Amino acid sequence: MSVPNRPEPLWAVVPAAGVGARMGGVLPKQYLPLGGVPLIRHTLETLLGMPEIDGIVVTLSADDSHWPSVFDTLPTNLHTTEGGIERVDSVMAGLEKVLDFAGGDARVLVHDAARPLATSHDIRRLMASVDEARAVGGILAVPVQDTLKRSDDTRRIVSTVRRSELWQAQTPQYFPVTLLYRSLQTSHVQPELITDEASAIERAGHEPLLVEALDANFKITRPGDLALAEAVLASRNRGQGPGDATRFAPNDTAPGKQRGKRTE
Ligand code: CTP
Ligand code: MG
Repeated sequence: MSVPNRPEPLWAVVPAAGVGARMGGVLPKQYLPLGGVPLIRHTLETLLGMPEIDGIVVTLSADDSHWPSVFDTLPTNLHTTEGGIERVDSVMAGLEKVLDFAGGDARVLVHDAARPLATSHDIRRLMASVDEARAVGGILAVPVQDTLKRSDDTRRIVSTVRRSELWQAQTPQYFPVTLLYRSLQTSHVQPELITDEASAIERAGHEPLLVEALDANFKITRPGDLALAEAVLASRNRGQGPGDATRFAPNDTAPGKQRGKRTE
């Protein structure tokens, strides 16, 4: 499936504020070392490696002191802005920058800093599928594989939920920037409930497309996820998987030093 050439600018917003409470560490999780470099560097290198993306806005915590260590030299199409209390606040701050830089016709990929494994292959499939289906927008997602249980507040099972129509939402989430910004503004009454972009678009009455992620793209949330991500990167480096994450060999030391080979 080829990605049609579209005239509208394409930007990415990468929410990277917060600490990742469930990781339990001192360093905010987006800066934890993965394959020898900060986790967020993997996320950003994948987007930076896609020439069709015109610019990237990263939203950082107000008191972030770690960002300057991520890149030796900041790529010219990478911009930062201050995030907010909830994820949706950070995303909206990023979208405001995209509106400033690229105008209201831009399309945007919103992608969690905490998902370092997304591949350009899946991101391009997402955009091509949305464009081909003429959908309002779409998201990467995976069908639920385990049987799902609903519990009461004492952890007794109350019922079994039919899983055949259920998906786990991931990022990137791909939408026209103006539609997304307006939809988030309207849904913003309960910011803690807007945990992804599609939910705001749904509330605005649209039906975004689900595009199955074929490559591993889990969010780094709990301590064990880092080791799993290392294993995925190592297997990709051995040529056993998609090529995107082959930039940093597991023993790389610091950003800019001893860069691993690129296979794309
Ligand atoms: N994020 C953000 N601004 C916030 C909260 C989160 O930019 N106020 C970013 C995080 O840096 C992360 C992404 O949004 O890259 C996903 O956040 P979320 O869904 O809340 O999950 P985590 O923060 O990863 O999980 P938790 O808070 O449970 O540790
Ligand atoms: Mg969070």
